[in-house]
Amino acid sequence: MRHYVYGGFERFWHWAQAVLILFLALTGFEIHGSIHFFGFEQAVAYHSTAAYALMVLIAFAGFWHLTTGEWRQYVPTRENLLKQADYYLSGIFRGAPHPTKKTPLSKLNPLQKLVYAGLKTFLIPLMVGSGLVYMFYRYPQRYSVVSLKVGGLEWVAIAHTAGAFLLLAFVITHLYLITTGQTLTSNLKAMITGYEDLPDEDPHGPAASA
Ligand code: HEM
Repeated sequence: MRHYVYGGFERFWHWAQAVLILFLALTGFEIHGSIHFFGFEQAVAYHSTAAYALMVLIAFAGFWHLTTGEWRQYVPTRENLLKQADYYLSGIFRGAPHPTKKTPLSKLNPLQKLVYAGLKTFLIPLMVGSGLVYMFYRYPQRYSVVSLKVGGLEWVAIAHTAGAFLLLAFVITHLYLITTGQTLTSNLKAMITGYEDLPDEDPHGPAASA
């Protein structure tokens, strides 16, 4: 049956976040010296602008999560966690059924809950926090943030760069997992249109479909 799974703001937030993170990765790895595209100075300017845009987006998304109660979708659970991992490691290659049934009220499987909760509570705050220290460490002192007791930038740079690699690893895995829905493109279409065909309620309960 066709369900409205992702609302307008949720889809806007998802795609805006995707574009900004990819752009931050592109400009960030140019600042890091790994690639050459815009030129260093331009990359720094673009990286700062995109970082501000991401922080504004995060503020609106935080408000949306709290006021709609959607944050509850992301509370990790151990239920079905191992079954879900087993599905991705082996079941999926044998055409086994999805162990978690997606519904508009419970959109995420236990592995998604865990990974997205980690992104929201650890990786994104790490990138924003280390990025802000990176941005403002020079002022008013040149080589230290006395008020923050940051002696130098080495650890900030390591944390920000390691976080960038982790985010890239997430994006690559995410792109693969997008293709593993009911059909190759059903997850992608759902995040574009909001609608998705989901299997009907199982009259024998969730255990029968697991
Ligand atoms: C709000 C979030 C962010 C802020 C405030 C921020 C800020 C900054 C700043 C100020 C720099 C140093 C620029 C300079 O040397 O002048 C930087 C570097 C960098 N950023 Fe970000 N950034 C953010 C998010 C991201 C994201 C999401 C990624 C990747 C997906 C990323 C990847 C990088 C990389 C790879 C570097 C180079 C690090 C190095 O070589 O030391 N940043 N960032």
